[in-house]
Amino acid sequence: MVAGGSGEDFRAEPFRIKVVEPIRRTTRPERERLVEEAGYNLFHIPSEAVYIDLLTDSGTSAMSDRQWAGMMLGDEAYAGSRNYYRLRETVREIMGFDHVIPTHQGRGAEHVLFSTLLEPGQYVLNNMHFDTTRAHVQHRRGIAVDLAVPEASDPCSCHPFKGDFDLDRLQTFLAEHPRESVALIMATVTCNTAGGQPVSLGNLKAVKEIASEHGIPFFLDACRFAENAYFIREREPGWAGRPIREVVRAMADCADGCTMSGKKDALVNIGGFLALRDPELFRRASVWAVLFEGFPTYGGLAGRDLEAMARGLEEVLDEEYLEYRVGQVRYLAGLCRAAGIPIIEPPGGHAVYVDAKRFLPHLGRDELPAQALTVELYLEGGVRGVEIGTVLAGRDPATGENVYPELELVRLAIPRRVYTDRHLEWVALTLRRVWERREGIKGLAFSYEPPVLRHFTARFRPLG
Ligand code: F0G
Repeated sequence: MVAGGSGEDFRAEPFRIKVVEPIRRTTRPERERLVEEAGYNLFHIPSEAVYIDLLTDSGTSAMSDRQWAGMMLGDEAYAGSRNYYRLRETVREIMGFDHVIPTHQGRGAEHVLFSTLLEPGQYVLNNMHFDTTRAHVQHRRGIAVDLAVPEASDPCSCHPFKGDFDLDRLQTFLAEHPRESVALIMATVTCNTAGGQPVSLGNLKAVKEIASEHGIPFFLDACRFAENAYFIREREPGWAGRPIREVVRAMADCADGCTMSGKKDALVNIGGFLALRDPELFRRASVWAVLFEGFPTYGGLAGRDLEAMARGLEEVLDEEYLEYRVGQVRYLAGLCRAAGIPIIEPPGGHAVYVDAKRFLPHLGRDELPAQALTVELYLEGGVRGVEIGTVLAGRDPATGENVYPELELVRLAIPRRVYTDRHLEWVALTLRRVWERREGIKGLAFSYEPPVLRHFTARFRPLG
């Protein structure tokens, strides 16, 4: 919960606010009209009509004065920009990966990596694939397999590392499949799809060992690496009190490289990179990078973006920042808990996930309860979250059937350094008001369903 009120446990924002951006509360009739026009899909609501936007923590961070100052130092050369070298040095220093290819964002890095390593018909094993990662695997006609511990799918389990791989299942999978059928293993830290849950260092080390035994490359999906490191330090025996940098390096030491969305833990609005240890792999990946992203010293970004990303990677390791960051997520989770609202426990690093199955138990899976709940939160308080349930899960590419994931969630992702605790109190109040009238909430059905990544562009109609 919040700050105890005095002494060491009191937590306030470790920054002061230098620039402000006005936000506006719309009226209920306005929101009703907008929701209808948007086909009950909040991706189609203009941001200016959202009061508190918790759609994503991706690309929504507030940059620091140091990052903005760095933007003026952009070297916009096509090749060999000084900001590229600065970024590469920073990644080398923090993660220890020698080769860095900037990309326009995380999925750009996935595109380059899978084009380099994944052949049609091969498997990619992940604790839990994020949706763009899964889509990129499938785009290469690969098969994405999730192997997280069973606790990852239990919203009430308080396992400290619900993002861990199930090592037995990983071993069994590798025993039953030839080496050549597995392109790579990836660990998503923190595990977004499981609720922003961390992966322990012990688990990463074990996966590394298994991967090297089989001669399979092991990568991190490092989007939220610093938040993951914070949890390791907090929860894993032997890591209490150790510098975050040390934890991050120990995580990276387990892997052959990483994909990174700078839009999360590099505290920028756009950018990402692929980092690699192996020079030969780097050479092969660079070919694809030129084709998809741009020359490998800019990768679809401006020099100034590279500079902001390098500076953000340093800032995110600030221990007070991380304490505030994770603390803010916990604050919102605590307010929900106090109101009896079912959420995923324990809260993860970047978002509070509301359990829509328990919030709206009267709705069946095909009535899209989590999507219906996102719409109600917007109508009630202008709060925008995102569905992580049946709509996001899409259809099985082989059978064309809906995949019903174990969890139906509404993710309330908290942008970094953007909202105050007071804003989060509004979010909690909104949730409470919807909770009080939950029995009257009706489901939704698709009125338009696109063939891939359907949650972005689908449209719905209210049932009943
Ligand atoms: N991996 C994970 C774990 C992610 O959460 C994301 C993005 C990506 C890869 C792709 O990165 O957006 O820069 O291309 N997640 C955002 C989200 C979109 O809202 O969770 P990207």
